[in-house]
Amino acid sequence: MADKKIVGVIGAGRIGKIHTEDLVKFVPGVKVKAIADINLDDKIQAWATNLGIEVQTADASEIINDPEIEVVVICSSTDTHAQFIIDAANAKKDIFCEKPIDYDLSRINDALNAVKDNGVKLFIGFNRRFDHNFMRIRKAIEAGDIGTPHIIKITSRDPGPPPVSYIKVSGGLFFDMMIHDLDQCRYQMGGEEVEEVTAKGAVLVDPAIGEAGDIDTAVVILKFVSGALGIIDNSRKAVYGYDQRVEAFGSGGCAMSGNDYPNTIQFLNDKSVSRDLVLNFFLERYAGAYIEEMKLFFKALQDGTEMLATGEDGLKAVILAMACKKSLEENRSVKISEIVG
Ligand SMILES: NC(=O)c1ccc[n+]([C@@H]2O[C@H](COP(=O)([O-])OP(=O)(O)OC[C@H]3O[C@@H](n4cnc5c(N)ncnc54)[C@H](O)[C@@H]3O)[C@@H](O)[C@H]2O)c1
Repeated sequence: MADKKIVGVIGAGRIGKIHTEDLVKFVPGVKVKAIADINLDDKIQAWATNLGIEVQTADASEIINDPEIEVVVICSSTDTHAQFIIDAANAKKDIFCEKPIDYDLSRINDALNAVKDNGVKLFIGFNRRFDHNFMRIRKAIEAGDIGTPHIIKITSRDPGPPPVSYIKVSGGLFFDMMIHDLDQCRYQMGGEEVEEVTAKGAVLVDPAIGEAGDIDTAVVILKFVSGALGIIDNSRKAVYGYDQRVEAFGSGGCAMSGNDYPNTIQFLNDKSVSRDLVLNFFLERYAGAYIEEMKLFFKALQDGTEMLATGEDGLKAVILAMACKKSLEENRSVKISEIVG
């Protein structure tokens, strides 16, 4: 077997821990050599030691400057992504970076240029592309099973809002939450571009979210170049858990996915049939997708094939989020050409 790919992970928070554990446990041909977290503490060190990670540091440049490390996995806070992409690319390392790349188009372009100039690979963590249900719908569309796609409909509702302190620095619902759904719409349409968006938003869950300048409920309509339509609905609070569904409707039929449940048990009595609630949030619902995306990232590196979620995809999702924000603020439909010129 070929030598293992030597990996360094930056950021050991919620998602950094998930990716690191998945890499150690489930991805063959990979060795996580180092983890860097600016808030490195005894807990992170004990966790990393337990996983057999030899270098534990508060300084990410130790990863960037380590000649043995070939791949950098960026899981730190969003405001650090663009610079770490640039640093890792200049050090000739391949990169996995969590979404979003940044909230600023010029910083995203600087990062993508560094990737291009250095001839390295960049994969963006749009994990929902690798969800077992959503991949199956994409396969059906690709195979022509629903004919020509006319409508992609995404329901994406969280079980509860994050703290207002998080909302204030999140970039807002379109960038923080809907970004996944905006990418999912493009992914299901085989990368077809969106021409125009129309967004409506409301504060119906918690007035404090409105006071922080954000919305907690939104509906967006996307118009693709072919004339096909996308519809996304988001809510920060679904009392029954994490509601994640996709439906693709076309000239020859429809493919729709339901939610995932912790079990298949139904409870029946003389009044109703019921079951346990849907899986609670992203760590449970997308556990399989996180493993699959890492496997496919390293497989693409090994095979020298195209990345399945590229920097360009990351850029386009941010542009769509910007168009949604403008549409909401100006109460009108917004053409994508207004954002990118
Ligand atoms: N794809 C997904 O489903 C998904 C889910 C959650 C978060 N995310 C994304 O992942 C990123 C991290 O989110 P999270 O929820 O894990 O946040 P988090 O706050 O739990 O973790 C971020 C970690 O990065 C560390 N960090 C910050 N600056 C650093 C630096 N300069 N060097 C090294 N470490 C640094 C922090 O100390 C923290 O431990 C965000 O960009 C978020 O949008 C993606």
